Amino acid sequence: MTCKKLYLFQPLPIGTISPFIYGHFTEHLGGVFYDGLWVGEESPIPNVHGFRKALVDAFKLLHPSVLRWPGGCFAECYDWRDGIGPREQRPARVSWWYKHDGRMEPNQVGTHEFVDFCCLVGAEPYIAANITTTTPLDIRDWVDYCNAPRGSTAYARLREANGAPEPFNVKFWGVGNECWGGGGDMEPETYAHEYRKYAMVLSNSLPGLKLIGCGPYGTRRWHWTERFLRVFESSARQMDGLSVHYYCDRSSGCLDFNADQFYDMLFQAAHMEEVVTRAWNLVCGFGCQKECPLVVDEWGAWHPDGSGPTKGYNLYEQQSTMRDALVAAITLNIFNNHCDKVKMANVAQLANNLQTLFLAHGSDFIVTPTYHVFDMFKEHQGATALQTAFDREEIAFEHQETHKEAKIAKLSVSASVKGGALLLTVANCSLGQPAELELAPVGMALKGDAELTLLTHEDPHACNTFEAPKTIAPQCTEGRADVLSVPPASILSARIRLA
Ligand code: AHR
Repeated sequence: MTCKKLYLFQPLPIGTISPFIYGHFTEHLGGVFYDGLWVGEESPIPNVHGFRKALVDAFKLLHPSVLRWPGGCFAECYDWRDGIGPREQRPARVSWWYKHDGRMEPNQVGTHEFVDFCCLVGAEPYIAANITTTTPLDIRDWVDYCNAPRGSTAYARLREANGAPEPFNVKFWGVGNECWGGGGDMEPETYAHEYRKYAMVLSNSLPGLKLIGCGPYGTRRWHWTERFLRVFESSARQMDGLSVHYYCDRSSGCLDFNADQFYDMLFQAAHMEEVVTRAWNLVCGFGCQKECPLVVDEWGAWHPDGSGPTKGYNLYEQQSTMRDALVAAITLNIFNNHCDKVKMANVAQLANNLQTLFLAHGSDFIVTPTYHVFDMFKEHQGATALQTAFDREEIAFEHQETHKEAKIAKLSVSASVKGGALLLTVANCSLGQPAELELAPVGMALKGDAELTLLTHEDPHACNTFEAPKTIAPQCTEGRADVLSVPPASILSARIRLA
């Protein structure tokens, strides 16, 4: 193994890494809320206002910046009025997901509970509004209910009667979700007209709202988004972010994969770079780059379901292996390196679901390797992202769709500085080869030892379970700050003080 030079350029930084890049997503889907986050106030499971205490405590440690809710597709049929008032009087409704899992929505978690959860963990709430089956007035009224000053409107008084005199101040509002698909299956021109209506009404309601429009899925829906932006007219309407969704969904099994399938999954994760760049070109092409950054509000690995602890009862619940941890690390490194374009991202989804951080069932609760990646990367939030350079080594594998040879970069890297320290996060994608990096800072000097955190396991299929919750756990040490070693299929973070 040769030692590669990794240049870290302090001059000409990429930009500030928005803390909102380290955002999350919680949908009323399978076991995300019911069995995951929410156990209810009467539960024998330790809880804070009905939310699973162990999860609240662990989540808080990540400094989560923003949380998207209530969907996803679930939002398409959601009436916010069902989720307010005394919980025992709230109506059960047919859930969007009923045909997949036969479960109804009990509405025990509504706007008050969601905002309460955000306050408990310190995250900004982000509401994805239903524009498929509502009117602009319904959403304007939801904004009024959430944000009108105490006592100022009938909805503010209703909010107070329901226990919350002070406004929730919800800033982020998604105007629809996947409107090219589940969100109304709209022609782009139809969505543009709908968007303009909602944006006009919402931007003339209470101040301070940030509106997020629906954009592409991965590198698909390109023409749909182009046609939407053409009619939308950036100069005349408010849009404060363009949503992009992308999943690594060409999956083998979550727990059962060979070397080609391992690399194919990481190849899909690395494709996020093209997703971001293409979407950004579109935004720039329509001259919206100043006001309309990218909001990647759904991302992650989507495996065939059934690998989670409930063996398929919780829809889309899946395990999380070292391979998933690498997907998370590669994706977050890409967001850091494109922080001039991406201002928010929300991993899908927080508990008992895709690319999950937590698995919970009854009184059992564990954190996954993806959780540890968020922990190792959290100090990138609000930091200045640096340009890096190193010789690119590639790994060849058989692409699982074309069955031809494809290649991925062996290393994924990002670096940032904040508070007099450098944070470097490195993922080694090779199954067999360790990586050795000699740090070459340009325009700055490093001092002292490095605080190192390593996430590794000799078996990339390894995961945490209720029976063995610490199979994959970070190893923290101090070590040399000039040369870093990363074992195969592992992630390393290094925090080093600046001289
Ligand atoms: O995250 C699961 C689903 O994926 C969401 O409901 C939808 O928006 C996307 O297609």
